[in-house]
Amino acid sequence: MGLKVSTMTSLFLFSLLVLGFSFSEAQKVPGMYVFGDSLVDVGNNNHLKLSLAKADFPHNGVDFPGKKPTGRFSNGHNSADLLAEKAGIVTPPPYLSLVSNKTSNNAFPITGVSFASGGAGIFNSTDQLFKQSVPLSKQVEYYSTVVYQDLVRQLGSSGAQLHLSKSLFTVVIGSNDLLGYFSSGSDLPKKSTPQQYVDLMVLTLKQVLKSVHNFGARKYVIAGIGAIGCCPSQRNQNKTEECNEEANYWTVKYNEGLKSMLQGLKSELKDIDYSFLDIYGVFVRFIQTPSTFGFNEIKSACCGLGNLRAQVPCVPVSSYCSNRSDHVFWDLYHPTEAAARIFVDTIFHGSQQYAVPMNVEQLIGA
Ligand SMILES: *[C@@H]1O[C@H](CO)[C@@H](O)[C@H](O)[C@H]1NC(C)=O
Ligand SMILES: *[C@@H]1O[C@H](CO)[C@@H](O)[C@H](O)[C@H]1NC(C)=O
Ligand SMILES: *[C@@H]1O[C@H](CO)[C@@H](O)[C@H](O)[C@H]1NC(C)=O
Ligand SMILES: *[C@@H]1O[C@H](CO)[C@@H](O)[C@H](O)[C@H]1NC(C)=O
Repeated sequence: MGLKVSTMTSLFLFSLLVLGFSFSEAQKVPGMYVFGDSLVDVGNNNHLKLSLAKADFPHNGVDFPGKKPTGRFSNGHNSADLLAEKAGIVTPPPYLSLVSNKTSNNAFPITGVSFASGGAGIFNSTDQLFKQSVPLSKQVEYYSTVVYQDLVRQLGSSGAQLHLSKSLFTVVIGSNDLLGYFSSGSDLPKKSTPQQYVDLMVLTLKQVLKSVHNFGARKYVIAGIGAIGCCPSQRNQNKTEECNEEANYWTVKYNEGLKSMLQGLKSELKDIDYSFLDIYGVFVRFIQTPSTFGFNEIKSACCGLGNLRAQVPCVPVSSYCSNRSDHVFWDLYHPTEAAARIFVDTIFHGSQQYAVPMNVEQLIGA
């Protein structure tokens, strides 16, 4: 009898715990809107007829369910997928796949849309390298003139405002602008100093964030730029395979500028919250203690040919490494799924050291 009571008591306590747990888990995101470049493109560029910046061929996707290339510049899932998974929603589908399928009155999914496009930059002009990517300004135009209007039709004006105020607005961009500045043969250094260039990147991004605020955005997830000077394409240009210190130096300057811009934006707009993601800082930890994260190879790409598998990009004739979990880089520029997973874990749950002033989990609850 006594045993029975205590069993019932612990069952009762157990269900309280389960209930408590599910209450805290109930803080879900209703939607996510993703803006950015190839680090988070989930297939928009596949719908651009002339674009060269596509990942629609092997060996991309070799670890994706079905082993299919999907337009993700990765062996498997990318950061957009992993962040959506953590936030408890399906990966927001590519905007261009939705409009190309759109019959007269079908609606955009309430759980969000991705505008991210490989090759895109903060500046319209950064696109000139590939021509056929969707620059950030155009991504925001698609959001405000098409998707936002559709949400208002679906949910009503105040319903849409409420929905959007709890949704995440994720922005991962800027690497292409900086890589463009520091690429050999670029004439950008003749037009502006690196300081002027990164200042204008920050200012342009600020205008973009303000304009999505006019269309309902209240919770921003903003990624800083990673250590682009250490990506295989940059190391390959150095005789001793070292990082391009100048590119890294200005990346850090940009990130500092971005962080203080966000602080300023919050005091200007008041009703926003944000999480600034220090991707650069997480990457530095990979380099300092690779084995802590299961990495054996931090310099070389996994897919490609030649020195550091960086002389020929990841194309169908390239070879790829047998173990994708112990490489930081998948190809010339992009992380493996394994590396992306650590980035996302760190910024979602991790300390303020890497997600400022709060991590994404806290942002969702804010
Ligand atoms: C668009 O249509 C194609 C072909 O019918 C289909 O494979 C694809 O899944 C559709 N995309 C979406 C996002 O529904
Ligand atoms: C960038 O392109 C958009 C159109 O997509 C345009 O509205 C905007 O003025 C352009 N920005 C600059 C600085 O040229
Ligand atoms: C290689 O990188 C190191 C460290 O940044 C730098 O000191 C050196 O000048 C670079 N060498 C070449 C050939 O670029
Ligand atoms: C691949 O690398 C990971 C991480 O270092 C390791 O745990 C795993 O055992 C490796 N797999 C194989 C098949 O070697």
